[in-house]
Amino acid sequence: MNSVRVLVRQAASSTIRRSIVPRRAIHASPASMSDALFVHRDTPDNNANIPFEFNTENKKRIEEIVKKYPPQYKKAAIMPLLDLGQRQHGFTSLSVMNEVARLLEVPPMRVYEVATFYTMYNRQPVGKYFLQLCTTTPCQLGGCGSTKILDTISEQLKIQPGETTKDGLFTLVEVECAGACVNAPVMAINDDYYEDLTPETTKKLLDNLQNGKPIKAGPQSGRHTCEPAPGVYTTLNEEPYGPGFKVRSDL
Ligand code: FES
Repeated sequence: MNSVRVLVRQAASSTIRRSIVPRRAIHASPASMSDALFVHRDTPDNNANIPFEFNTENKKRIEEIVKKYPPQYKKAAIMPLLDLGQRQHGFTSLSVMNEVARLLEVPPMRVYEVATFYTMYNRQPVGKYFLQLCTTTPCQLGGCGSTKILDTISEQLKIQPGETTKDGLFTLVEVECAGACVNAPVMAINDDYYEDLTPETTKKLLDNLQNGKPIKAGPQSGRHTCEPAPGVYTTLNEEPYGPGFKVRSDL
């Protein structure tokens, strides 16, 4: 009987505790917008009827890649094969994904799962120059700030994040930390990083690309890689101390 009373009391107290916890207004959370497409919609340039086959060079690469894995784990090669397909075709189309599934003998859904999880796979056509501007906090705060860089790009190319220029030359997207915060603000153009950006250097990069001129990857400020921005004044600029430095002589 006693134990029943204890249970009733516990239940009552937990009810009281719960009632004073304020409700979280989930419906009031701001909508999280993304420029990525997470579902497939058939379009004239992206549907299962468009044939896709890896070229001879890539077929050789695929042989080498697949050899790295035990035969029962061929599916481990999904990512590198998707990357090859994207480089050959220009984007990771449905046909590319289906071909990767066929080659690795996995259900197509296994490939779709990978392609939709990683943002490195573009499932829509992108421009010749794929601009991935980092707008995470260090890049927003570093140098002149990524917001100014974004404004500069949008103004010069007349596109917003997620859009491609009419001539098909540029696609712009915003990305999370590119892992090069020490050289903020940072933008990737295809496979290379362009760092320490300012509105002026960004404009120059875009001008050169628009005019078919070469551009130099890395810091645009002139500093060497990620050395201290004001120069090497206080860091590693003298011979390192030898062993025993400041150690008692009797030790
Ligand atoms: S926040 Fe931009 S590279 Fe890290």
